[in-house]
Amino acid sequence: MKRVDDFRLKFGKKELVPIIVGGMGVDISTAELALEAARLGGIGHLSDAMVPDVSDRRFNTKFVKDKTRFFKHNIDNSDKSIIKFDLGVLAEATRRHVESTMQAKRGEGLIFVNCMEKLTMNAPRETLTVRLASALDAGIDGITLSAGLHLGSFGLMADHPRFRDAKLGIIVSSLRALQLFLRKNAKLNRLPDYVIVEGPLAGGHLGFGMDWAQYDLATITTEVVRYLKTEQIDIPVIAAGGIFTGSDAVSFLETGSAAVQVATRFTVSNECGLPTKVKQEYFKASEDDIVVNTISPTGYPMRMLKNTPAIGAGVRPNCESYGYLLDGTGHCAYITAYNHEVALHPDAKIISVMDKTCLCTHMRNFNCWTCGSTTYRLKDTTKRKEDGSYQTLSAEHIFKDYQFSVNQKIALPG
Ligand SMILES: Cc1cc2nc3c(=O)[nH]c(=O)nc-3n(C[C@H](O)[C@H](O)[C@H](O)COP(=O)(O)O)c2cc1C
Repeated sequence: MKRVDDFRLKFGKKELVPIIVGGMGVDISTAELALEAARLGGIGHLSDAMVPDVSDRRFNTKFVKDKTRFFKHNIDNSDKSIIKFDLGVLAEATRRHVESTMQAKRGEGLIFVNCMEKLTMNAPRETLTVRLASALDAGIDGITLSAGLHLGSFGLMADHPRFRDAKLGIIVSSLRALQLFLRKNAKLNRLPDYVIVEGPLAGGHLGFGMDWAQYDLATITTEVVRYLKTEQIDIPVIAAGGIFTGSDAVSFLETGSAAVQVATRFTVSNECGLPTKVKQEYFKASEDDIVVNTISPTGYPMRMLKNTPAIGAGVRPNCESYGYLLDGTGHCAYITAYNHEVALHPDAKIISVMDKTCLCTHMRNFNCWTCGSTTYRLKDTTKRKEDGSYQTLSAEHIFKDYQFSVNQKIALPG
């Protein structure tokens, strides 16, 4: 009987344990978590979502405060078009986050940054260019392009000295999206180093419509593997979404995937950035508590716990401090939904906005409890303490459980 450790992900001469801990913004996949994955010989991810805020927490910078002060005069204005990011600050925040993590890296594994195209930041091209270049400058091992089609992102890095040496990969949810990417980037003469196929059971945003339940990861992965083989294109395929045990992972590794990307199991690790109380919510969840809805202003469906405080919260848009989802013309679907509610209830002190959520505010405050579809099984991965709470796990324990387990077994903590 095979286990994950019988396989290796190969990048040229480098061989890795084929386990990738996926990016989880905003700082849910912390540096500590990524460092553990790398130390154990796999791949960990930082997220580049809201990096100035992450820098403030990690390094005591005051980037968000400074931005808020600068745009304070605009707080009551529903027009957010003047709110721009200082590109120097963005570069500096990214550099700090990435550089300090890379300096702390031990072991044979790698650390990548998860870069979401949907963070359009009221200047999509300029801000993305800076985020990508700064991560490369700061020595990141690789970049995973996610949440969006990223058709032009390779082009934005093409002049960077590390364009051909850093590992660059993309996340897709269909063969069609991969084909489109390859076609659009053919002239750069640089293939992605890996392609992550993320199925409909993943956490965070989904690359599917609300008909996500009609799709399944094994089918899409097989299509992608077969296509690349037929075309004789040599790109490792990595399966992601709903892979809960080592045996689940082995079934993908035996059918052509070069590695798996996992996240949900690590949401209850000690190293994960979620607050302790929120980790308990993940443990407690039952299958009925997990929903996919359309409250994310990005337009993508998102999976989350249904008791997440972000649902229905009517906070004033916080674009003066954040503004990560402003689309380039100062618009965000939450602002529209919020203004609509305010117009309906002009005298109300507190309003509820059901259609959309202020994702920046709620992700920043860990009040949008996004999760994978297997979250309800987390309680089976640990022990319960006398006070009824669940014991969180070390990332090493979870990683090794994926690496060595057989027969769908899950090792409980000692
Ligand atoms: C809490 C949470 C946050 C996530 N945030 C992101 C993100 O910011 N960007 C991204 O590309 N994927 C995100 N994902 C998806 C994961 O990186 C990963 O591909 C997927 O969840 C793997 O499936 P699993 O959770 O069933 O193991 C997130 C997943 C979770 C559970």
